[in-house]
Amino acid sequence: MRKPLIAANWKMFLNVKEAADLAGAVCNGNTDYSKTDVMLAPSFTNITAVSEAVKSSGKPVIVAAQNVYTEESGAFTGEVSIPMIKGAGAGAVILGHSERRNVFKETDEFINAKVHKSIEAGLTVVLCVGELLQEREAGVAFEVVLAQLGKSLAGVKDLNKVVIAYEPVWAIGTGKTASPEDAQAMHAEIRRFITRIYGEHTAKSVRILYGGSVKPDNIADLMKKDDIDGALVGGASLKADSFLKIINF
Ligand code: 13P
Repeated sequence: MRKPLIAANWKMFLNVKEAADLAGAVCNGNTDYSKTDVMLAPSFTNITAVSEAVKSSGKPVIVAAQNVYTEESGAFTGEVSIPMIKGAGAGAVILGHSERRNVFKETDEFINAKVHKSIEAGLTVVLCVGELLQEREAGVAFEVVLAQLGKSLAGVKDLNKVVIAYEPVWAIGTGKTASPEDAQAMHAEIRRFITRIYGEHTAKSVRILYGGSVKPDNIADLMKKDDIDGALVGGASLKADSFLKIINF
């Protein structure tokens, strides 16, 4: 059985104090961690404060970075390395988010390099994939997503530390959620792809999250679907009450 994972992507929101307070409020919630894993992804500057808030709560909440660079150190102005995020308390990293792909023009090859380095460093990787609206309308959503997946995971032998997040770009921050049926169809396709490359055992254990306008009132219907194992939540994770409602779907 796959344990659900509900992950918060706080994107470029919250200052240090706001992030620490929100982490504390999430940790104070009445969550049954034997039933659900919870992850918080603050911006780089807030990882330390969020990790400390989580630690002092004693709750098994995972802290993630929203991105990372491939090199350990060096003359890479503006970049943040894996040892840096680990030192700040992150145990996981989101890679290939559509905003990284579309706004910052990250390629599958670059994402793939980061996936390798992050896994080697023992981090859990939340690998995001998802099609644009025009790709869905052109009927190529499956091809686009599977191509992103294949290239981003090229050469990765073991998916033990990998979580996949399907985030259709047209559903992110728009209030338009994919229907549970459409999301399930893509998740099933992703799982079939994983079966072909990694075998049934891995495919059955890998978690596939849905992301894109997840809210307290749509999470339960999404989670009823066989291949939806959790959510990657943006806007609705920025308030403790709505995020806790999603965690306790
Ligand atoms: P929203 O939940 O705000 O649509 O964002 C989804 C997302 O991009 C999470 O990574």
